[in-house]
Amino acid sequence: MLKRKIELEFTEYDDFNELDPADQHLVNEARRAVGHAYAPYSDFKVGAAVLLENGNIIIGSNQENAAYPSGLCAERVALFAAKSQFPDQKIIAVAIATAAGEITGEPIAPCGGCRQVFAEYGDQQPSEIVLLLAAGNLRVSRFEDARILLPGRFSWKDLKKGR
Ligand code: THU
Repeated sequence: MLKRKIELEFTEYDDFNELDPADQHLVNEARRAVGHAYAPYSDFKVGAAVLLENGNIIIGSNQENAAYPSGLCAERVALFAAKSQFPDQKIIAVAIATAAGEITGEPIAPCGGCRQVFAEYGDQQPSEIVLLLAAGNLRVSRFEDARILLPGRFSWKDLKKGR
């Protein structure tokens, strides 16, 4: 028998001004995107901003629907839009934010489905996707590699094993 341990390392910024200016800008773009959210059912508005290698920033927000599963999270809206328009561009970083004052103090936590999508795009490129998770009060958690948010994930490589 072997006990294994998975560790997750990230940096917490209590002071927004301690963040690198480029990270601050990306978080601010995600906060701007919150204003475009369509969330009449949950009333929980989320914004995301994807920075590409060419400098473009693609924003997205959560889009809900009366047929609940038809909606989509902000980060997947932004990631899919970025990858649809710029399929060959590397993703440098992604910021996710909620409306000011939402869930006071705690940076937003992406859902499992979004973590899976981050991980797969991360696998497809040579450099890591930095992830910035912002709280309503602007406390920010910074992950150097978005893939660590979903250890032991399912991947296409697993599907192809043994073929
Ligand atoms: N949501 C996001 O857009 N991103 C997250 O990281 C967490 C949750 C959305 C989905 C749904 O529209 C609402 O927040 C409440 O779950």
